[in-house]
Amino acid sequence: MTIAMATGTHIIYADNAATTFPKPPEVLTKMIEVYTKKGVSPGRGSYDLSIEAENLVDGVRRQVCTFFNGDDPSRVVFGYNATDALNLIIQGLIEPGCHVVSSCLEHNSVLRPLHYFLQQGVIGLDLVSFDSEGFIDPGDVAKTIRPETRFVIINHGSNVVGTVQPVEQIGDVCVERGVPLILDVTQTAGIVPIDMQKWGVSAIAFTGHKSLYGPTGIGGLVARAGIDIRTTRFGGTGLDSRSLVHSQSYPQRLEAGTINILGVIGLSAGIRYVEGRSLNRLYQKEMVLTRRLRDGLSAMEGVKLYCARSLKNHLPLLLCNVEGIDPEQVSTILDGDFGIATRAGLHCAPLVHEGLGTSPKGAVRFSFGLFNTPEEIEKILQAMEAISRSQRTT
Ligand SMILES: Cc1ncc(COP(=O)(O)O)c(C=O)c1O
Repeated sequence: MTIAMATGTHIIYADNAATTFPKPPEVLTKMIEVYTKKGVSPGRGSYDLSIEAENLVDGVRRQVCTFFNGDDPSRVVFGYNATDALNLIIQGLIEPGCHVVSSCLEHNSVLRPLHYFLQQGVIGLDLVSFDSEGFIDPGDVAKTIRPETRFVIINHGSNVVGTVQPVEQIGDVCVERGVPLILDVTQTAGIVPIDMQKWGVSAIAFTGHKSLYGPTGIGGLVARAGIDIRTTRFGGTGLDSRSLVHSQSYPQRLEAGTINILGVIGLSAGIRYVEGRSLNRLYQKEMVLTRRLRDGLSAMEGVKLYCARSLKNHLPLLLCNVEGIDPEQVSTILDGDFGIATRAGLHCAPLVHEGLGTSPKGAVRFSFGLFNTPEEIEKILQAMEAISRSQRTT
């Protein structure tokens, strides 16, 4: 869908890995409709409407729990986004002297909290690297686990190279070694079915505004029974207000302050939207576009693609560079001359670009969502051909 902007111009939006845009009208309509009727503070009042709002939020906890195949809806905790949830998990699990295993594919929302505690001398940290196609070897995870390893935390789907990690095998390793596996499903939720129980995943962090097609400002975590995350922020929960001790039952244990009920409504509508259209069908459609772009770009002189040889276990996103031009400049030309919105740079995942050899300037990322069309891919290919040709002839 070519999107008409308020300025009268049109854009081809290929930055869906940052946030999906536009949101389905059904989601936006539902948000207004339900918030208009029930937008009060859930769980804080004894009047009927407040109880209804609480029931609504609890219903969405059940929906999210089922969607990820968690085992207890009360262990679905709402926060602002994946960064927020990852901070809750990481800060609530680490103990002085513990060791953490993670990977070079992580986003800064994992790397920065871990690095902070490493610098403070609180934790030991090992990062598993990825192969030339962007995959982690579960055997490397096994080799890195130590007796004092508190948890393994892995990015399920890379926001830079698009690879989806073999989490089932990583889960087997973690279960065998008795170490909780935490999964950052920010990029995969809504694209790839996620099965926490089957994969042996102890907790996930998700965000609402990417492929779940909800708004920004809502995300959260799902924790399995058997993993306890310490409270690291404190405040009102609507429970036991006389006590100065923060409520320790889930989900209040990890929630403080008034919940983003508008976001919860949007998240629920977004999940319903993608589930109603079949995740697999949406994924296949987006991968047809991704494959066409991959084939076109790989045949193009002067364009280099990363980790896209096989698009098996891959998200609908591609990373590339045009030889001789800075990625930032390519992205600016795509926008200014062709009306194509992409994301250039390091994508908040500096170690991926170090591993690819694309640091410090990074690369250009195209990422697709359910409103992109085959015609848009042809226009992107024409634009990239024009950019690479102009570079070759100057
Ligand atoms: C893999 C990954 N993890 C975490 C995040 C952070 O998500 P949010 O900005 O919604 O907190 C992102 C955002 O792009 C991401 O791609």
